[in-house]
Amino acid sequence: MLPEQHDILFTFIAIVFAVFALFVFGNVVQHCRERETANGKMWGTVFGALAVLCFFLTSHMLGLIQADQLAFFFGTYVWVIISVLLIWGVFYKSEGIGERSPPIIRGFFFWTAVSLSLAGYTNWLPQQRSDPPPKAEAIVGDLTMEEFSEMGRVIIFGAKQVAGQKSIGKGQCPLCHTFDPGDNIGRCPNLFGVEKRSHDRVKEDRYMTSPLASGETEPSTGVVKGVPGELDEEYRRAGGPDEMTGEDYLRESLMCPTCYVVTGYGKDGDTKSPMPVINKPPISLSRVEINAVVAYLQSKDTPGEFGAVTVPLPQDDAGNTGGAPVAEEEDDSEQPTFVTGQEDIQAMINTLGCPLCHTIPGVEGAMGALGPVLHEKTNAPNRIKDPNYKGKATNTKEYVRESILNPSAYLVFNEEAGEAFPDGLMPTTFGQMLSVEALDKLVDFISQTEAPAGS
Ligand code: HEC
Ligand code: HEC
Repeated sequence: MLPEQHDILFTFIAIVFAVFALFVFGNVVQHCRERETANGKMWGTVFGALAVLCFFLTSHMLGLIQADQLAFFFGTYVWVIISVLLIWGVFYKSEGIGERSPPIIRGFFFWTAVSLSLAGYTNWLPQQRSDPPPKAEAIVGDLTMEEFSEMGRVIIFGAKQVAGQKSIGKGQCPLCHTFDPGDNIGRCPNLFGVEKRSHDRVKEDRYMTSPLASGETEPSTGVVKGVPGELDEEYRRAGGPDEMTGEDYLRESLMCPTCYVVTGYGKDGDTKSPMPVINKPPISLSRVEINAVVAYLQSKDTPGEFGAVTVPLPQDDAGNTGGAPVAEEEDDSEQPTFVTGQEDIQAMINTLGCPLCHTIPGVEGAMGALGPVLHEKTNAPNRIKDPNYKGKATNTKEYVRESILNPSAYLVFNEEAGEAFPDGLMPTTFGQMLSVEALDKLVDFISQTEAPAGS
């Protein structure tokens, strides 16, 4: 929103008010002339002054920016115009001009009330929401652990639960993970109890040796497994022992998922993790955000208790570069994810999170491994021919559309695992995140995906 922007509707109403006050003045003067009442001078002065005041208020309002215009309008102008109407009514009564106030007064009252409530409803509310987001400095320094862990919760789940949608923040974790005891979607570990597990994991023999040994460098991320001191400075834990702690395990799980793969949840005999690297695109959390997520993971199982949290609070020092993005993105995550179709296809697909689970030819960085590789130009016709296919699609585009809106209509068989891909893993909420245009565009794109030539 431009800082100099004016509110057209309220500017217009302010001008109408000034003209109206002038009209009232003329009306009063005319009545006094006709009746030659004793108080004519007094009434003329009062209404003349009010008309001048309204002109002054209107011209003052023209010079304000939008937010101030609204505040001024509701805080001052509305009360002045209501006073004009009331005094006008008193004038009519005391001069015995009519039994009731004339239709123009009642009409104007009615018009003002209706337009104010409508305008207030449509303009006033969004206006408050477009206030600038809190400055980054606000989150650094005087933060409590409770607030820091809450920040982690918002990164994971978003600031607001949107009706009918799984609540998912920029960290995207709930796409794959569950957090409550007994709640499972299959392919990814439930993160309930992960704080406790984190301390045991780093002591397991399996942690020391599999899929790579402690001290080895994991090739895809460049992280040296099990050596917190070797992390990029930006992400490194400040102070404390050099050996791995539970906190380091959690941080390593986010920055190097393949450093350790939870039994039964990996690919290629649990040597590769299908979890995306959280500090790399498309999720790209900063150091402060990763620490906030760890603080949340360490405290979520003990509501109100933060004794288990070992991550440091962000410090207001020059080396802390991670502060700013948090405040900005936090504002972002208040909006439900929605794709209009104006975006380019790569941005659209990244926003929706498809690359976290799918490898998609033609989409940079889409290397997800939790769902089938999207080669729909060849896959879709084969799915429809499958005797087990019970969906309604008769061609590729219909099949792709159905897969996006209703993934359970058909479960793809996972040759590698020798069983069907799990039902319920692919979100069923894309219908609410896409405009009609965006869905068409997405279906067109996915329908023509195929294996790159030569593979
Ligand atoms: C695309 C799906 C996916 C997303 C998104 C995802 N994870 Fe994971 N995560 C997995 C899988 C699969 C595993 C198990 C394999 C492994 O150990 O890496 C896992 C493992 C973990 C573990 C280790 C659990 C344990 O019991 O040791 C932690 C901690 C974790 N994830 C946290 C997160 C957090 C926090 C986020 C969000 C910032 C996240 N994950 C996002 C799929 C995902
Ligand atoms: C949390 C992981 C996840 C996300 C995110 C996800 N999918 Fe899926 N998807 C799956 C799984 C698992 C399957 C296989 C099970 C099934 O068929 O329902 C699947 C199946 C599909 C299929 C059918 C593939 C075939 O070969 O028959 C299509 C098409 C598809 N997804 C498209 C998308 C698109 C487009 C997006 C983003 C808007 C997306 N998916 C997001 C996990 C995911």
